[in-house]
Amino acid sequence: MKADVTIFEMGPRDGLQNESKFINTFDKIKLVNLLSKSGLSKIETASFVSSRWVPQMADGEQVMDGIQREQGVSYTALTPNKKGLDRAIQANADEIAIFGSASEGFSKANINKSIKESLQLFRPIVDAAPMPVRGYVSCVTDCPYDGPTNPDKVIKVAEELLAMGCYEISLGDTLGSANPDSTKKLLSELLSVFQTEELAVHFHDTQGKAIENITIALEFGITTFDSSIAGLGGCPYAPGAKGNVSTEAVVDFLESKGFRTGIEREDLKIAAQFARSLSQ
Ligand code: HMG
Ligand code: MG
Repeated sequence: MKADVTIFEMGPRDGLQNESKFINTFDKIKLVNLLSKSGLSKIETASFVSSRWVPQMADGEQVMDGIQREQGVSYTALTPNKKGLDRAIQANADEIAIFGSASEGFSKANINKSIKESLQLFRPIVDAAPMPVRGYVSCVTDCPYDGPTNPDKVIKVAEELLAMGCYEISLGDTLGSANPDSTKKLLSELLSVFQTEELAVHFHDTQGKAIENITIALEFGITTFDSSIAGLGGCPYAPGAKGNVSTEAVVDFLESKGFRTGIEREDLKIAAQFARSLSQ
């Protein structure tokens, strides 16, 4: 079945990165394999970051090596620097992502760099990457350290990432504090500069507003949605943030609106049950 929206699965990365107890590699692989069978076309599978910063993601190579790759599925990974890119190439990641922030406070807390320094770090990654590169911009409406974010700041970072060669910008509601009004304001300003195809949305669901925010994004013509199986997750550097909106809820919602997701709901249910069993 041809899909007319894309769901970008975050569970194995954004979902698991925040788990305090180390989840064994075999279980991480099993989760990715279950997700791969459901019809998802994009799965963020690993994170090649410093294990000092995010110990849970230290086994990215083993996870990438152990999964059963399904045809038509892109297995993606986060790479904050050249070392991350080298690891992603070695591990045969189909796609990578660099991750910047619209706010200085989160940029510093998450990657120990100012926004300007982070962009200098990212440019050579995109230049050298032999695979497509996605760009995240975090804290698009609010930052846990700096408060509300002006859309101008999001535009500036997104413009830089696209100019470097990212094929898409995922707009990170890192805290899960966006609401329909702030989402509308953000997207109306961004879409005076960017094309809808250049943007994806990445809502965390701390306040239960993610589906309402996705409704707004759909009205603006956006068709790529990040979500996490069973709603697992959060960011270790965004205190209090809950996981991404659950993949099951996004699939149900989009299908109810007549969109084809290409995802088998029963397979997703099995993956969600397993994902829940991994979470504390
Ligand atoms: P640093 O401490 O400033 O840099 O960290 P460093 O270069 O001094 O590295 C420190 C140590 O890490 C060194 O090891 C490096 O070799 C090692 P040591 O010499 O001390 O033994 N190292 C690495 N090891 C493996 N792979 C690498 C790597 N890089 C350095 N790639 C750094 C800077 C960027 C590395 C660090 O801050 C970092 O890894 N941050 C990542 C934090 C993170 O993963 N956050 C969560 C993901 S982002 C997110 O969730 C938001 C998102 O979902 C969107 C949204 O919701 O808004 C994407
Ligand atoms: Mg996130």
